[in-house]
Amino acid sequence: MPEPDIADTLVAFLNADGIPGKRPVHAWGIGASGVFVPSPVAGSFCIADHFQEKLPEGYPKKPQVVSVTVRFSNGSGSRQNDGAAGPHDGWSDVRGMATRFHLGDGSATDLIAMSLPEFFTPTPETFLDFARDALPRPFRRETPWQKLRDMLHLTLPLPDPYPGQVSRPDDGAMDYADRNRSAQLAVFQAASIGAPVSYVRATYHAVHTFFVIAPDGTRRGVRFIWQPIAGALNIDLRDPAQQDKVTRPYLQQELRDRLAKGPARFSLMMMIGETGDDFDDSTRPWPPHRVRVMMGTLTLDTVIDCEHLSFNPLLLTRGIEPSGDPILAVREWAYQKSSQVRGGVPCPFSQR
Ligand code: HEM
Repeated sequence: MPEPDIADTLVAFLNADGIPGKRPVHAWGIGASGVFVPSPVAGSFCIADHFQEKLPEGYPKKPQVVSVTVRFSNGSGSRQNDGAAGPHDGWSDVRGMATRFHLGDGSATDLIAMSLPEFFTPTPETFLDFARDALPRPFRRETPWQKLRDMLHLTLPLPDPYPGQVSRPDDGAMDYADRNRSAQLAVFQAASIGAPVSYVRATYHAVHTFFVIAPDGTRRGVRFIWQPIAGALNIDLRDPAQQDKVTRPYLQQELRDRLAKGPARFSLMMMIGETGDDFDDSTRPWPPHRVRVMMGTLTLDTVIDCEHLSFNPLLLTRGIEPSGDPILAVREWAYQKSSQVRGGVPCPFSQR
């Protein structure tokens, strides 16, 4: 199916039963603004403007500070019938971090990341199958005996429902993963990902491979990761002091309170792929010992409203190119379509 067509099908599917005007996934979020300062080595790996310590002739001759807009989000959608309506911050869920770098010439480039290192499926068509199978099913609560039986069968016992939770996507996702090996890593990681104490205490992965172009023309396949400088930390529901977090939203207020006291920081790490690493399939991990280069530091200091903004993973800039990953290609269209449907501010891109 051509990309725009499958993108339309995916967006229509994800939007079914959603709340009009909200994103069909990553529906609950909050914005923040701040600056990105490239590291001294970033410019020797990539010629993109935001990785240059100093800008070319004609720009101010001082270390570059790039202004950024970030939207943090919970991965769940706005479907009203799956128990996900409302931001269930304390529930286990993937989180998102969409970053827009505002470049010196007035253009922009986006980096969209989530707290899972790999994606669920290798192609848009298989993602549609996965999304259909992973529709939330009524919650099945296991008795202590069933949990014991699971353990004897070397199967993970099902978690108990959170207060108010009536359905969950994990059963369908697990069934899909049983039949499709490529989904297993992401599905198992997603099922046990937990909830962060703060949006700025999670690690976010841009998942796909991009090619970065160095000043000497070298083209490297890379994967980007935002690493929180304060470290990643989840809530611990065994701690009685934290148990109320499953019944009330806390992540947005936590960010407001935190940034009112001082900035939050992330390092942008760039993992360099080697021969044999898969560049076009984001279900496939790379070996963990691949070289990682520190590309710069993001400092966030102000909460802003950016719910109407539209990010796009293919809003790239000179020096950063897409890989042949078919999921990355379809996202260009899916995000534009979704933005039109929800009445978002079109991304600069859609004027092409
Ligand atoms: C075929 C695969 C995918 C489809 C169809 C898809 C679809 C969507 C759609 C329709 C939106 C809402 C866009 C809007 O209304 O502005 C969205 C948002 C988002 N997606 Fe995906 N997505 C896919 C894969 C991914 C992957 C691989 C990642 C991680 C890198 C990701 C991370 C996000 C994030 C963080 C947001 C929220 C962006 C924001 O804050 O505006 N998605 N996705």
